[in-house]
Amino acid sequence: MAIALALLPVAGRAGTQIERGQALFFDAAKGCAVCHSVKGRGTAVGPNLSTIARISVRALATAIRSTETQYVQTVKLKAGDSFPAMPDAKDKTQFWDLSKTPPELRKLDPAAIDSTKPNVDWRHPPAAYPNEQLADIVAFLRYTFAGDKSAVDPADVQ
Ligand code: HEC
Repeated sequence: MAIALALLPVAGRAGTQIERGQALFFDAAKGCAVCHSVKGRGTAVGPNLSTIARISVRALATAIRSTETQYVQTVKLKAGDSFPAMPDAKDKTQFWDLSKTPPELRKLDPAAIDSTKPNVDWRHPPAAYPNEQLADIVAFLRYTFAGDKSAVDPADVQ
């Protein structure tokens, strides 16, 4: 039963749940793909989502909404300015400047860095989503990485 549900269009909202989630994820202005790459689309600023997409609906929604950061730091430069920085996955001398939209990759000379501290100011995710939309995004991620076509109930992502 549940298998087919996510593929059925919901009255008043265009497309299947997975299609709606995909459109939200790849929205050019404020979508997740501004900072997460999925199957080669998007920019890999934040962590790869292929493993975390397989956890439970509730846990995945909590991870998306979580404002606690594990990797983002506040980098203060000797020149004086500081910014929320996500270390680049491939090159640790490069940081994504999250104060910019879209984030900008900055290569930093270690000698130019005054200090790095755990992030306190930057909040994830940058955009707020109502439960219906978050459920669509979760459905898209679970379908993409786990092949799971089950409908995601907005009540389960509260
Ligand atoms: C402006 C950039 C940006 C946008 C937009 C963004 N994220 Fe993230 N995301 C990050 C960063 C950076 C982290 C790592 C935060 C940390 O733990 O320090 C992260 C972490 C995550 C995590 C936790 C990953 C893990 O392994 O711990 C999930 C899940 C996630 N994002 C999903 C999403 C989804 C879904 C959206 C869209 C609704 C989204 N993100 C939008 C930058 C972004």
